Amino acid sequence: MKLTYTGKTKNVYALEDGNYLLQFKDDVTGENGVFDPGANTVGLTMEGAGRAGLKLTKFFFEKLQEKGIPTHYIAADIEKATMTVKPAQVFGEGLEVICRFRAVGSFLRRYGKYATDAQPLDAFVEVTLKDDDRQDPPISEDALDMLGILTKEEYQTLKSLTQQIAHVVKDELAVKGIELYDIKFEFGRVGEDKQIVLIDEISGGNMRAYKDGEYIEPLELEKMFL
Ligand SMILES: Nc1ncnc2c1ncn2[C@@H]1O[C@H](COP(=O)(O)OP(=O)(O)OP(=O)(O)O)[C@@H](O)[C@H]1O
Ligand SMILES: [Mg+2]
Repeated sequence: MKLTYTGKTKNVYALEDGNYLLQFKDDVTGENGVFDPGANTVGLTMEGAGRAGLKLTKFFFEKLQEKGIPTHYIAADIEKATMTVKPAQVFGEGLEVICRFRAVGSFLRRYGKYATDAQPLDAFVEVTLKDDDRQDPPISEDALDMLGILTKEEYQTLKSLTQQIAHVVKDELAVKGIELYDIKFEFGRVGEDKQIVLIDEISGGNMRAYKDGEYIEPLELEKMFL
């Protein structure tokens, strides 16, 4: 097993059979000890955060599998806080795809002149570049195509998968009276046919969820939901 990447919240190992092992850490993104799913730095370490993130991830990836939505998921070991996945090739140096049901976070910071806090948004999709030095800039469909990161056809696939998956998560949370405001995904190409699939994780660290108008912290979400 070879360590191939040290991320902010996970380590990535290459397994001998060609698959990857994601090791979930207890670090979560944020600033000055305050959690922020949109942040590009590790803000705090919370005992049990890795396992909690993996439990939610396992739940959602298995749900997607049942529904026939393609993902990198193979198996999860909660005790060890690891997940075995198919290796994927990311777009460019990595993209994040956000789906928004209410206006909060960076959307509100950017468009506050026209949008109001928590205003409903109809599964609005936007893409950002994973580029910490440039604070993950948003990028348009035209720019993605022009810069050779994603074809227009691939963009449509990505957008449609994003909305489908976000609705699955939203509906599952709704069963527990929890409302999904926004969520962030990563995608990659897998296998010989370079199929576009969901990669990475689906946990409290990648979404903003609220109950009765109150924001739910990632660790709290796991307890409330599972
Ligand atoms: N199936 C996969 N194949 C290849 N890479 C993957 C796969 N699933 C997740 N990854 C990558 O593994 C890394 C997981 O680490 P982590 O989530 O800690 O990264 P991060 O700190 O959020 O982001 P960064 O990539 O900026 O370090 C991410 O870079 C993610 O893109
Ligand atoms: Mg990550």
